[in-house]
Amino acid sequence: MHPNGSEKPGAGRRLVLLALGAGAGPGADGRLPELLEQAGFSVLGASGPDDLLDLIGREGPDVLLYDIDDPELGGWEGMSRARLAWPGPVIVVSGRGDEADLEEAVRRGAQEYLTRPLDTESLLAALSAVNRQAEPVAAAGGRDGQARTAAQASSGPAPAGSAPGPPGPREGEPPPGRQATVIAVFSTKGGVGKTTLASNLAVALFQATGEEVVLVDLDLEFGSLATYFGLRPPATIVDLCRLAEPITPEVVHKALVAAQPPGVRLLAAPASPDLAAEVEGEGRKQPDRNYVEEILTALAAHNRFVVVDTGCNFREAVLTTLDLAERVLLVSTPDIPALQNTGKALDVLLKRLEYPAAKVNLVLNRADKLLGLTEDDIRQGLEFQIAFKLPTDEATAVWAANYGRPFMLDRPGSRLGRAVTQVARALVKAGTPARAGGPPRGGSKAARDASWRWTDGGFMDTLPSPRV
Ligand SMILES: Nc1ncnc2c1ncn2[C@@H]1O[C@H](COP(=O)(O)OP(=O)(O)OP(=O)(O)O)[C@@H](O)[C@H]1O
Ligand SMILES: [Mg+2]
Repeated sequence: MHPNGSEKPGAGRRLVLLALGAGAGPGADGRLPELLEQAGFSVLGASGPDDLLDLIGREGPDVLLYDIDDPELGGWEGMSRARLAWPGPVIVVSGRGDEADLEEAVRRGAQEYLTRPLDTESLLAALSAVNRQAEPVAAAGGRDGQARTAAQASSGPAPAGSAPGPPGPREGEPPPGRQATVIAVFSTKGGVGKTTLASNLAVALFQATGEEVVLVDLDLEFGSLATYFGLRPPATIVDLCRLAEPITPEVVHKALVAAQPPGVRLLAAPASPDLAAEVEGEGRKQPDRNYVEEILTALAAHNRFVVVDTGCNFREAVLTTLDLAERVLLVSTPDIPALQNTGKALDVLLKRLEYPAAKVNLVLNRADKLLGLTEDDIRQGLEFQIAFKLPTDEATAVWAANYGRPFMLDRPGSRLGRAVTQVARALVKAGTPARAGGPPRGGSKAARDASWRWTDGGFMDTLPSPRV
């Protein structure tokens, strides 16, 4: 205790790791270790990026004070690397202090942001603040903070920049023996409701089973899953693709963001469209690696369900997902342009990729808006069954999207909520099909032929004209 009776900010001797560059300059920076020791903290100093990662792994600090201005530490990338290795609180120290810099710090997961010259009062206030937030991580997380904490689990949509506690197997625990069901939510036309379904289905799967669900945003250019959960993710898929080492379950779990409800976690899409190239295509650090395959395989090893929201294309990331998925939810709305593209998608999935028909479930969103068409028209036109129907419900769907909270949390009893629950229950009931080695393509050709009666004339030839 302080002489005045108040508790020292570092009471309990919390370990602060200083990653402050050599060029930090005079002023309080130089006296930091001494100031912190006086305030009750234990202090360690990192001499460079390797040393930083080493100390993080070895010591499991309570707080990291990170100098964003020191080029030797690797700037923002170096900070992301540290955040991937360890989920604890980071205080960024910067000489800039402008809005953009502050936002970047928050986006990367910093809890506090201090500008130079440092003053003792703000430094101790920042440490006190992160100490309060870090308490459950330190208490439950073990050396590398791998356990989820009660505070993280019960928090609402994470405040900007909050650090999720990466879950996954704890040290010494045997790896879970089961594989996840990977569910791809896909369409060949934009705006039909993929993200609405993917986000709420993840919640519904958790509600139905109480088991962990991971959502992956593979709409690489314009993914918005995080927004549907009101999250500003500190790490994204791009951080994983920048790592030199293979993407193991332990590594991938560190890039996941805890969402609401507990049990749903998210791997966010790149923060801007230009970064998509780092995941697939030209911009990859190691062009011969299929990062999406590594990531999905790692996630499937430790979670019950992996739900993937995809983009409207057949590029590598989406194709890999479709191949690895046990189930493809092909979403369409009941209008000719969407249905026409859905017909093309079925053609590719069933004929060219030779997926068994049972792997593909057609989801008709806004199924009550059959303006001039009937369900029979759609079935006959596509020569494919409608597996699930979702009603139009703007008060539920659009409100939830604007609010940044899946409607399955607040309105599970709405018409749309009940329909999503049905999808989730059907998927749970269907269970996880056994993977017979290699990608789950194929199935018996006879079965495919029997279930695939698409005529080469295409959708427009088989669909009757809309009735007016
Ligand atoms: N059943 C529904 N009833 C009412 N509104 C809906 C319904 N489904 C989706 N919406 C709304 O339609 C819009 C598009 O939905 P969403 O973002 O899920 O589509 P998407 O297929 O993911 O689009 P994109 O291809 O751009 O990623 C959103 O505003 C969403 O709230
Ligand atoms: Mg979307």
